[in-house]
Amino acid sequence: MLPGPEAARLIEIDKVYVSPSYTRIYPLVAEKGEGLWIYDVDGNLFLDFTAGIAVCSTGHCHPEVIAAIKKQADNLLHMSGTDFYYTPQIILAEKLAMLAGGKDGNRVFFGNSGAEAVEAAFKLARWHTRRELNLAFFGAFHGRTMGALSLTASKTIQKKYYNPLVPGITHIHYPYCYRCPYNLSCPECGLACVRWIEDTLFRTTIPPEEVAAIFVEPIQGEGGYIVPPPEFHRELKKIAEKYGILLVADEVQSGMGRTGKMFAMEHFGVTPDMTALAKGIASGMPLGALVARADIMDWEAGSHASTFGGNPLSCQAALATIKLIQEKLMDNAALQGNYFKNSLLELQKSHECMGDVRGLGLMIAVELVRDRNSKKPDKSLRDKIIQNSFKKGLLLLGCGENSIRFCPALSVSSEEIDTCLDIFEEAVKEATR
Ligand SMILES: Cc1ncc(COP(=O)(O)O)c(C=O)c1O
Repeated sequence: MLPGPEAARLIEIDKVYVSPSYTRIYPLVAEKGEGLWIYDVDGNLFLDFTAGIAVCSTGHCHPEVIAAIKKQADNLLHMSGTDFYYTPQIILAEKLAMLAGGKDGNRVFFGNSGAEAVEAAFKLARWHTRRELNLAFFGAFHGRTMGALSLTASKTIQKKYYNPLVPGITHIHYPYCYRCPYNLSCPECGLACVRWIEDTLFRTTIPPEEVAAIFVEPIQGEGGYIVPPPEFHRELKKIAEKYGILLVADEVQSGMGRTGKMFAMEHFGVTPDMTALAKGIASGMPLGALVARADIMDWEAGSHASTFGGNPLSCQAALATIKLIQEKLMDNAALQGNYFKNSLLELQKSHECMGDVRGLGLMIAVELVRDRNSKKPDKSLRDKIIQNSFKKGLLLLGCGENSIRFCPALSVSSEEIDTCLDIFEEAVKEATR
């Protein structure tokens, strides 16, 4: 019976003291994590296909990450990279700058979260270009601070009563081809969504020479794990280059090996001008990083900083995480992601409610619909399946309006995927019975 007595007791206290703005959808009170598995405070065991919202990339409490944190904790907890130097931050910056590639070199700004990485990109784009306007996409999630929230266009509840937000941002359609906003189909559409920027927007309302940056998720995350067509980012980059606009990739959810490549943009053959990173970068320690081309990150001393950003523990956790990702986890994400997606596509054949199965690597979603013909979104079915899965010991999260995301640790095994699939299918059957 869930929640167990201790979980129920703690949740009652939480109800009194913790901000009611959080969106807990089931009563999991986590106590201990190991690999893909979570124990709750009553000793119940769960298979975690959320990785703490795509964060615990190496699995819960990977021994090498824990050892790196412990070793660093014995030496130095904090000194503030804003005002002093310390080794882990310098070494991590060098590592990230190299990973981001490009021929002109990169520099790194450190914060504590995805929102801070995006916020830094937002400010740097203005600083470097001296331009005021920006483009972002409907369905995008870039974070909750006022700048990042202004770029976000995911759910109105995230913006309600917070206006006025930062001005000068125009949202445009993302290539959500399963439900094309232009009612066209790809590739016959000729990427109408990209052409619209030049043909309509830049001709009618937005002078391109006033646009600082285009913010884009390589794969839209909170919006529904939406994978754009192969040419999308290349075409976007062409437009950006033509008008001296910076292309900012928000890889907070899609980055750090999750899609089977270090950065999801690599699947599209595009090197962005800036990349925002967080979530999976440090296996659960708070860390955000903005990696920008060296000639773009040209702001002067004092123009931006963060007391805790890039603290020694998080940097060591990130260095251990990146080592594991490069050694084997990125390859495992590609391999297991393939197996997982193909298995879901197989399952889709016998379940009319599984409208769309999509994703890259271990960033996979199933979109739930009334039936495949009408494609009518079925949010309540999605919610039921997540609840049923929880009761059967599988942790899942939603994304978009009516999709379920699967974003396990990159260390997931095929046996764990099989267990997830068995429980998921049972949960679907029970919800549609
Ligand atoms: C693509 C993307 N950008 C930014 C953020 C914000 O990250 P944080 O919650 O760490 O501020 C998220 C969080 O889900 C995200 O998915």
